[in-house]
Amino acid sequence: MISADLAAGRTSDRRSARPQQTRAAVGNLPTRLRPADLLRITDQGVADVLDGHYDRLLPREWDPVERWSARLESDDDLDLWLISWTPDRSTDLHDHAGSLGALTVLSGELKEYRWTGADLAVRILAAGDQAAFPLGWVHDVQHHESPAPDSLGPLHLDDDQRAATHTVQASQIGPTLSVHAYAPPLTAMSFYEVTEQQSLRRTRTELTDEPE
Ligand SMILES: [Fe+2]
Repeated sequence: MISADLAAGRTSDRRSARPQQTRAAVGNLPTRLRPADLLRITDQGVADVLDGHYDRLLPREWDPVERWSARLESDDDLDLWLISWTPDRSTDLHDHAGSLGALTVLSGELKEYRWTGADLAVRILAAGDQAAFPLGWVHDVQHHESPAPDSLGPLHLDDDQRAATHTVQASQIGPTLSVHAYAPPLTAMSFYEVTEQQSLRRTRTELTDEPE
């Protein structure tokens, strides 16, 4: 069971998260789904996980060392995954080949390193945060450890600060989880390293239908 606090206020209607199937293709993207669609779908996926819709897929206990993932939904347009993140298990810089992607953090926090074209930009994604990955997006995603609750300062908290406190507490008592969508479903990933000249060098490409 995943934190009931995080489920508060969410409703479940997975069908409403999918766009109309008659939508015409836009530009030359390989999918009719847009990044905004994927963000909405992953947000709905988080709601469905919290509502127990996928309890049959969840492990009996969360492994604090090894990562875990489960494909929640799959069709011709989209794969939806629930992924766990553990310390010291980075993914290496990678792209998603011909797939767009998006994620919503369900619990805990993630640190993303993203190649900007000149260097690596870093951001922290906390529970409820979202990120979309257009074609060509190269990043490395890692588990991120939150600060201890008693380091958060005085107890005069506004609503946003109170929500952040709940996020910290949730990350310390449960797994770090995120819901990811890929459209079309993932078929390959290329991996990269940053050279001494501050450029990106592709080191290998793997055919895979599973996310990092
Ligand atoms: Fe990725």
